[in-house]
Amino acid sequence: MILIIDFGSQFNQLIARRVRECRVYCQIVPPTITAGEIQSLAPEGIILSGGPASIYEKNSPKIDPAIFSMGIPVLGICYGMQFMVGALGGEVARSNKREYGFAHLRVRSQTDALFQGIDGETPCWMSHGDAIVKLPRGFKITASTANTAIAATVHAKKRFYGLQFHPEVEHTPKGKAMLHNFLFRVCGCSASWTMTSFARDAVADIQATVGDKKLIMGLSGGVDSSVTAALIHKAIGKQQTCIFVDNGLLRKEEAKKLKVVLKQHLKLNIRFVNVQTLFLKALAGVEDPEKKRKIIGKIFMDVFEAEAKKIRDAEFLGQGTLYPDVIESQSAFGGPTAVIKSHHNVGGLPKKMKLKLVEPLKYLFKDEVRRLGKTLKLPDELVWRQPFPGPGLAIRIIGQVTGKRLGILRDVDAILLEEIRAGGFYRKLWQSFAVLLPLKSVGIMGDHRTYENIVAIRAVTSKDAMTADWAKLPHKLLGQISNRIINEVRGVNRVVYDISSKPPSTIEWE
Ligand code: XMP
Repeated sequence: MILIIDFGSQFNQLIARRVRECRVYCQIVPPTITAGEIQSLAPEGIILSGGPASIYEKNSPKIDPAIFSMGIPVLGICYGMQFMVGALGGEVARSNKREYGFAHLRVRSQTDALFQGIDGETPCWMSHGDAIVKLPRGFKITASTANTAIAATVHAKKRFYGLQFHPEVEHTPKGKAMLHNFLFRVCGCSASWTMTSFARDAVADIQATVGDKKLIMGLSGGVDSSVTAALIHKAIGKQQTCIFVDNGLLRKEEAKKLKVVLKQHLKLNIRFVNVQTLFLKALAGVEDPEKKRKIIGKIFMDVFEAEAKKIRDAEFLGQGTLYPDVIESQSAFGGPTAVIKSHHNVGGLPKKMKLKLVEPLKYLFKDEVRRLGKTLKLPDELVWRQPFPGPGLAIRIIGQVTGKRLGILRDVDAILLEEIRAGGFYRKLWQSFAVLLPLKSVGIMGDHRTYENIVAIRAVTSKDAMTADWAKLPHKLLGQISNRIINEVRGVNRVVYDISSKPPSTIEWE
């Protein structure tokens, strides 16, 4: 296991990704971790991440320097390297030549473990204002760039390595090889972390935690909660009761499909709660997006809680929390961000009902969850599902939500997804969906004048939903989508394509 100390770099998740791509398990921890805690985790190596601070700044993040006398190999990246050098008696100074972007790395010591198999000269990606001016005793320079004499350093005997550039980004093409060398040549890790081994350990862990008690799990139909439920099922079978709240704001036949896959095939114990009319009634006449979200969130919580209470003596609540959420909430540096759209989940429930949380995916990234889903034999259709918001189609119907409008949007959405899938775009897109506008426009069908609804198609590419670009779908496909929708869905006579990026727009319209 590798520990990554989070000094606040925006690339920390990338470091973790790279390490895991080498099939080595790693965890990102804040620098407030104590040397004792590190000792008990017994990592095979420690990576000190980059960060925006300068090591001599008053409140710059620090880790207990005792980590340098534990005999564990350390790789410091950018700020991490400077911190190590500073802590061991070297000197760092604000350099008069700031360096951002590409630089040519000249490897001076090809015998160095980190640079094994790497050419004499290779591009690297820099982003720093400070530079090392004096190395501590025992360190030597292993690589330089035109502006940075000490671009890489090593204390071979102690197995301490420092890189001024970022090996984790794609702009450093040999960066992955360097990390690979650190993991296997320096730390002696073995490439044994796979989703099968993860599932085996997670199952044992869940069994040890839950014992013979009962667990409640909320299913949304999305990848995360489905994989969580399948994993928990493998561990404790019928001791798990899943609750699926059908709020009437789902896609066409969603609840039915889920029933077939999770209940009939995987034999999960699921309670389907049909409360469609409850939601529709509460939403009647509501146009404001935030109001819609609040109403849906509140009813969902009430319904879920009432159902959960029926499961007597339940002590645990399963949740599909993923690693990026954990990292964000633990980061000492990420300040509170403005609420753009309120999201809901069952976050408040554990405290209210005195339930203990079981979050078996909390150290996984999304693509790992998908791989785990495959290992657990979930069908592709579920594993590769695009994200779908909790408030569902209600935030894709601009203006009032009615049964009739839901029906129209459901039909449009089904055609859109059919075409996107047939065109081979479903997995390439982060999301693709339709939005029903509160507008009508004039059209002509046969010899008749029509005055009907307009739908907007939204298709975006994204890595993490923080930013997104509108997808450059082929005109032929867009034409086919538009033709089919207008011909097949009664009540729609115009289709438009949304060409806005995020930011400044958002992915959903409400
Ligand atoms: P926006 O519209 O803010 O959406 O760019 C970013 C991502 O979040 C999803 N989304 C939600 N997911 N509950 C959810 O579980 C919500 O209330 C919600 N609102 C937006 C959206 O689909 C996109 O993937």
